[in-house]
Amino acid sequence: MALTDSIPNNVDLGQDRKLLRALEKWQPDFQRWWMEMGPEGFQQDRIWLRTAVSVEPGGWAHYDYVRMPEYRWGIFLAPGQADRTMGFGDNPLDPVWTEVPGELRSILRRIIVTQADTEPASVEQQRLLGKTAPSLYDLRNLFQVNVEEGRHLWAMVHLLHQYFGKDGREEADALLERRSGDPDKPRILSTFNERTDDWMSFFMFTMFTDRDGKYQLAALAESGFDPLSRSTQFMLTEEAFHLFTGETGVDRIVRRSAEATVADPNGDARNRGAIDLPTVQKWINFWFSSAVGLFGGEISSNAADYFATGLKGRYKERQKYQEHRALDDVYPMEVFEGGTLTTREVPLRNAINEVLRDEYIADCERACRKWNQTIAEAGLDFELRIPHRRFNRTMGMYAEGAFDLAGNPITREEVEDRRAEWLPTEADQQYVRSLMQPVYEPGVFAGWIAPPSKGVQGTSLDFEYAKLAPR
Ligand SMILES: [Fe+2]
Ligand SMILES: [Fe+2]
Repeated sequence: MALTDSIPNNVDLGQDRKLLRALEKWQPDFQRWWMEMGPEGFQQDRIWLRTAVSVEPGGWAHYDYVRMPEYRWGIFLAPGQADRTMGFGDNPLDPVWTEVPGELRSILRRIIVTQADTEPASVEQQRLLGKTAPSLYDLRNLFQVNVEEGRHLWAMVHLLHQYFGKDGREEADALLERRSGDPDKPRILSTFNERTDDWMSFFMFTMFTDRDGKYQLAALAESGFDPLSRSTQFMLTEEAFHLFTGETGVDRIVRRSAEATVADPNGDARNRGAIDLPTVQKWINFWFSSAVGLFGGEISSNAADYFATGLKGRYKERQKYQEHRALDDVYPMEVFEGGTLTTREVPLRNAINEVLRDEYIADCERACRKWNQTIAEAGLDFELRIPHRRFNRTMGMYAEGAFDLAGNPITREEVEDRRAEWLPTEADQQYVRSLMQPVYEPGVFAGWIAPPSKGVQGTSLDFEYAKLAPR
């Protein structure tokens, strides 16, 4: 099948010979990578998946049974806006770029490659999870996330191929050569080298790590490089489902946990085959603290440059802000210097990473309030909490110190003493892994997670979300 037929697109793939040739050359390598590093053991099964077929609101997705290697990875740009201007930075009234400006070429390439690298990385991290899926519903959702991350890789490779010539093609090849967790050729960002081999970690990943992705994509959707803006805008429509999977997945674990705690005479959820809430809290502490570091340094001249040149805006820059130069504003930041915290006013442009991090944290706290509502509904007195942004950081200025869950400075010894109380221990991991037994019967759910409130796209929960070969 010709590439123009197998790749749904709205980028005139049939007309652009050069782009077509580059993608045709890359496709077999992508297929090889998908077979080697994609979901193991399910490549020949038919999964009920949605495929993006256009960018029309309401009509962009088509649902059907598909074998994953035959998924139609599409290339879509959100519709262009005539006379779009930069909108922020030093020259907010200048027209946006439709080609890469020479002086920004290497920065822009790095931004795109860093985003692109996370897409195949997460597929690699999740490749064994199908073997322990708690239901067909969850199995299908996992694979939906996986194929869409594959499509996001295509979306970024399209930009590299179309706008960056030879080095773009080399970067596209390298995206298929790095491997999550491989010490010799790791993925670029550390979170994307973490193990994600139990389903609670998968839900935490899609809740916290994919949510970082949402805010990064939203900042890039403001970009003055128009093709990047339009590409990431469309990716965000798919990303919403990944975040839904994570947030509701954690909620379902929490529901089951709270119910089991109430039902057990000793208040021990583990006695009832569920995951106790203190253990859920440890997973939150680990995954949140890992993801919150992805926003970059608190005070960052790079972020200031990206903003000044119009490469990366604030979250909802155009809708939320009146003033788009951000030249005179300051950000009151708690800086950690010489072992103590002091509040200092930082020029806003240098605090752009922190502004985005604030949006992200507020969103995580919103989700946490919903989980706590679920716990209260079950009649249990317990509250989950999003840890402070300073807790357990490995990057940025807070990595210089040691902090408790509330963000108070403590000694490194205290951290070590309390590590088992705050973060998953080997024993916790063993317990959670012991629960990970596959359930492939339609309508049935593993005992450690509550069923969702409704099925996918109007289907009932006993719908056969995957037609699996006998195993
Ligand atoms: Fe993605
Ligand atoms: Fe995602």
